[in-house]
Amino acid sequence: MITLAVETSCDETALALFSSESGIIGDVLLSQAVHSEFGGVVPELSAREHTRNILPLFDKLLKDTGMDISKIDFVSFTLTPGLILSLVIGVAFAKSLAYALRKPLVPVHHLEGHIYSIFLEKPIDYPFISLIVSGGHTDLYLVEDFGKYIFLGGTLDDAVGESYDKVAKLMGLSYPGGPIIDKLAQKGRPAYHLPRPLIGEDGLNMSFSGLKTAVRNIVMTGNYSKEDLACSFQQAVVDVLEKKVIRAVELTGVRNIAVVGGVSANSELRRRFKELSEKHNYQVYFPKPKFSTDNACMIAYAGVERFKRGITAPLDINPEPNTPL
Ligand code: KG4
Ligand code: ZN
Repeated sequence: MITLAVETSCDETALALFSSESGIIGDVLLSQAVHSEFGGVVPELSAREHTRNILPLFDKLLKDTGMDISKIDFVSFTLTPGLILSLVIGVAFAKSLAYALRKPLVPVHHLEGHIYSIFLEKPIDYPFISLIVSGGHTDLYLVEDFGKYIFLGGTLDDAVGESYDKVAKLMGLSYPGGPIIDKLAQKGRPAYHLPRPLIGEDGLNMSFSGLKTAVRNIVMTGNYSKEDLACSFQQAVVDVLEKKVIRAVELTGVRNIAVVGGVSANSELRRRFKELSEKHNYQVYFPKPKFSTDNACMIAYAGVERFKRGITAPLDINPEPNTPL
């Protein structure tokens, strides 16, 4: 079976052709550059960019792969969550194609896509703990099987990626801030004392807005080292994530850990979790950096699994901005 997968939930326009037998046939992705000067994604601009780019990207994908459009067995697409104006473009494209080809439509939850980004390289054993760290989410799930997700805890305010982006904006850096802060941090020292909110709490809730405020207070002094502040911020974030994962292992007894979402590309997070796996004998998995951030291959993987279970959507389905997993 071959699926075409469509992902437009935020600022990446991404399409993939994927075979249930042999995996990725081809994929194309365009990261929208228009948002860099605004310090965050501007929804209206994002929707315009998706509209402009999705058809040329589809043509490129067909050309790159030499795929005949009639070989597509079903169309997978991100239904939720995301920016509604952006989702609308991908959903309209997916519906139009499914209608024209007379093929089924398979709705995918974006977070389910992230969870299965790990499986693009090699499936891992169930059960596992999934730490989803992205621009919109910071959640811990116990994954018992495909479709069986138990929410363990998550952020009460900002998502980790969002706080990276906000801290970068405070420091006058461009969007997305995560990779920039990550690079700067490698040149700095953890010289500033920053809070680690809720780190000592027994539960699995997290909070990052206070940390961002502490960074703002330092920035406001006008006299600080960007490298050291980036490094101190990154240490605080990773300390909290590490502690919460250790707690999740204690509570569930599950030692398989998958770290996914845009922030899972972070170098310090990868380094510290590797150390953690050696120290505590955990199995820790990260997606390839290319599949950490939003992409259509992960949507295709989840789409295939959903289709196998008979999950399809009618042609009058509409995107939803924030449906829980
Ligand atoms: O998963 P993703 O592509 O989109 C959402 O679903 O939100 O995640 C994007 C987020 C952005 O906030 C970006 O700054 C962050 O991931 N990010 C990083 C790194 N690369 C991307 N954060 C920290 N370190 C990185 N290397
Ligand atoms: Zn995402």
